[in-house]
Amino acid sequence: MSYDTILVEQHDAVTLVTLNRPKALNALNARVLDELIDAFAAFEADDGQRCAVLTGQGDKAFAAGADIKEMAEKPMADFYREDYLAKWHSDFTNAIRKPWIAAVNGFALGGGCEVAMMADFIIASDNARFGQPEIKLGVAPGMGGTQRLTRAIGKAKAMEMILTGRMMGAEEAERAGLVARVVPQADLIDEALKSATTIAAMPPLGTMMNKELVNAAAEMTLSQGILHERRLFQLLAGTEDKAEGMQAFIEKREAHWKGR
Ligand code: CAA
Repeated sequence: MSYDTILVEQHDAVTLVTLNRPKALNALNARVLDELIDAFAAFEADDGQRCAVLTGQGDKAFAAGADIKEMAEKPMADFYREDYLAKWHSDFTNAIRKPWIAAVNGFALGGGCEVAMMADFIIASDNARFGQPEIKLGVAPGMGGTQRLTRAIGKAKAMEMILTGRMMGAEEAERAGLVARVVPQADLIDEALKSATTIAAMPPLGTMMNKELVNAAAEMTLSQGILHERRLFQLLAGTEDKAEGMQAFIEKREAHWKGR
């Protein structure tokens, strides 16, 4: 598939994907979604690629939301018949088992904030602004915003942001637990690639299972989650990479991962 709305580059074992509609502040239309699904499927399928970074082109926006011009004239029956936005969950987020980071530069609004929250974590530039302003358009978040924002920052702040449409700056987002780290805008891509490179150097099966376990925390009861964690810990104990990792520690040398 050739891409019109995204750019894809490989930096050793890290795939960098850039939303590339800067004139529309990287608004997310159907084409963007299809291309992201395709690019992330290729990333998943490539054993040489271990971590991905998603960012937005330009210095103004990560993504200013779902494409309002695409939605404006669409009748309700079409939204329902197409199950509009469903693929973001089924074919995008749920299909990515390897780790990926959102590098948020500027506005992450509506669907843009929601895509950032689909990532395993967010690194934000100091000018990043997060918000779920759908209420001002007469709708609600439709790609997980009410659920993921509430889990990330708690009911009080999520409810206030969603009901008023107010934006949250990078520092507040870090304090509230929405983002892992804030960095100067000029350093954002380097810092995100550095983080991704660190993750890419970890044992691949362990990385995927650790991701699965942290995500399970949002889906399971504490007892179920702790049992799931113990079982995956026990499963990892049977891998060649566990034997190598522990032997390397004992021998005071670097480990060489095999991914099995
Ligand atoms: N969809 C389509 N086009 C968009 C867009 C969007 N979400 N956001 C911005 N654009 C376009 C603008 O229409 C404009 O295009 P033109 O030059 O052709 O007019 C261009 O991007 C630049 O935008 P502005 O001139 O508005 O830039 P600004 O600096 O004055 O304002 C902004 C920036 C505050 C982010 C403003 O663009 C804005 O409020 N955008 C919409 C944000 C929004 O409401 N997002 C939620 C969308 S609904 C959604 O996402 C639902 C869901 O959960 C799935």
